[in-house]
Amino acid sequence: MPDAYPGRKLSARYPTDLPAWQALRTHYRDELRHRSLKELFRRDRSRAERLVLSAGDLTLDYSKNHVTSKTLKLFTRLAKESSVPESIEAMFSGERINVTEDRAVLHVALRSKISDRVALEVPAVRDLWGVLTRIEEYVHAVHAGEIVGSTGKRFRNVVNIGIGGSDLGPVMVARALRHYWTDGMRFFSVSNVDGTQLADLRSELDPAETLFVVCSKTFTTLETMSNARAARAWIVDTLGDAAVEAHFAATSTNHAAMNDFGIRPDFRFGFWDWVGGRYSLWSAVGLSLALVLGFETFSRVLLGGRIMDQHFRLSPLSENMPVVLAMLGNWYNNFFGAETHAILPYDNRLDRFPAYLQQLQMESNGKSVRTDGKRVRCETGAVIWGEAGNNAQHSFYQLLHQGTRLVPVDFLLPATSSGAAQSLQDLAIANCLAQAEALMDGFDEGGLAPHRVHRGNNPSNVLVFGALTPETLGQLIALYEHKVFVEGVLWGINSFDQWGVELGKRLADSMTGAVSRHEQYEGSNASTAALIGRLQELRGH
Ligand code: F6P
Repeated sequence: MPDAYPGRKLSARYPTDLPAWQALRTHYRDELRHRSLKELFRRDRSRAERLVLSAGDLTLDYSKNHVTSKTLKLFTRLAKESSVPESIEAMFSGERINVTEDRAVLHVALRSKISDRVALEVPAVRDLWGVLTRIEEYVHAVHAGEIVGSTGKRFRNVVNIGIGGSDLGPVMVARALRHYWTDGMRFFSVSNVDGTQLADLRSELDPAETLFVVCSKTFTTLETMSNARAARAWIVDTLGDAAVEAHFAATSTNHAAMNDFGIRPDFRFGFWDWVGGRYSLWSAVGLSLALVLGFETFSRVLLGGRIMDQHFRLSPLSENMPVVLAMLGNWYNNFFGAETHAILPYDNRLDRFPAYLQQLQMESNGKSVRTDGKRVRCETGAVIWGEAGNNAQHSFYQLLHQGTRLVPVDFLLPATSSGAAQSLQDLAIANCLAQAEALMDGFDEGGLAPHRVHRGNNPSNVLVFGALTPETLGQLIALYEHKVFVEGVLWGINSFDQWGVELGKRLADSMTGAVSRHEQYEGSNASTAALIGRLQELRGH
């Protein structure tokens, strides 16, 4: 297999063998393991001012982490020794760093300007601006009532049909930017295979005002194609065969399949194999978003991504926000034994951001084999979880404060409200800061009953920004994309494939007949056979 990152001999060494990794190990053991965050603050009065980074509109306060100046120097050395700078250039210049699929990785091109010259020589990169122009024209025509439903009614409802990267990005961004929706347009999504989402929409929406966007990189995904066929049947039942053309648009790399489904050529929007599914919302996968937000607002999300790309590409390693976040992630994961990482946004509009990051981080870095085919010798992707603001406080913060596990935390905190009274956002801010403080300082006054002690010493990052705008959201998403990339480079894994989802898909295919048509179960798993039997009984067969 070709080396993903030319210029470094991946197979020659593991990250754990690097001098900086070993120095970090000694530093952790001798200097940090038994030193509390409170003590670090006592010893270094300027810590709160110094351990802060800016990137675009984002400010990262990482002072409440188990790090000193020495740790940070070692982080930078580790990034250099793992060839992070060369790997960043390899991605931006369009090298085929997704080695198992032999593809370039160019979501960064999708939000670039042509003058940035991001991998322009890679086939089809120059086509992306043409697709954006077609999306812009299409969206304007829908909003202007020039493209309408089969009965002549304007479209009011946009339903994105997709799953994974073809669902989570559009859904997360649509919810986050709810206060930017175009008047009269509403966003819905259908993803799961059980059919209930569409069933609910059928009773809620007027089909004559409903535009379905079938969103699938491959256009073969079981869930998406089942839902798309069910949606088409609903349109045929209610509006007739001829209405299908008017009520469906699609985005995919598979032009033949869009054609077979019956999507009109001018309502098909393509993208390319160098756009990974979970990195695709910047491509035509954002069509449903552009429809509900308006093209200008969608472009502002792309602009935010570009701002973070430039920061990532040009900033020194020690001031590079994605690099620092990645090094911190690795620090807790591989030195402190943390298995999970919580994402806690204090703006309810970001309620799907943790779910979005689950796919981004866990599908990207949930790997145990390196790009040279050998097993890794360190921990890789942490389990990502989280929930928005005070809902999370009233759910699982008990475990953060008094459980036995170390859970590093990222707080996401806008200074201003995303469309409600500022006095309410002030409450959210006070709660966020209080939680970060409580997690660090704990509470253990002499004589306190043990069950009331808060152990404290729990690390957290606080990411602050002025407001949840399209630009800041774009920056946040790209920040985590690049964090994931740097972690993958460090661990020597391919963050851009997802072979681990294949086996389950294949088995599900082979079981459908046994489940729904009483055919013989062909497999040899006794538990599955018994469960199929029990389910049949429950259904009265
Ligand atoms: O879950 C596997 C996966 O391939 C994801 O990587 C992808 O985002 C999702 O399925 C959907 O794929 P598609 O866009 O091809 O329908």
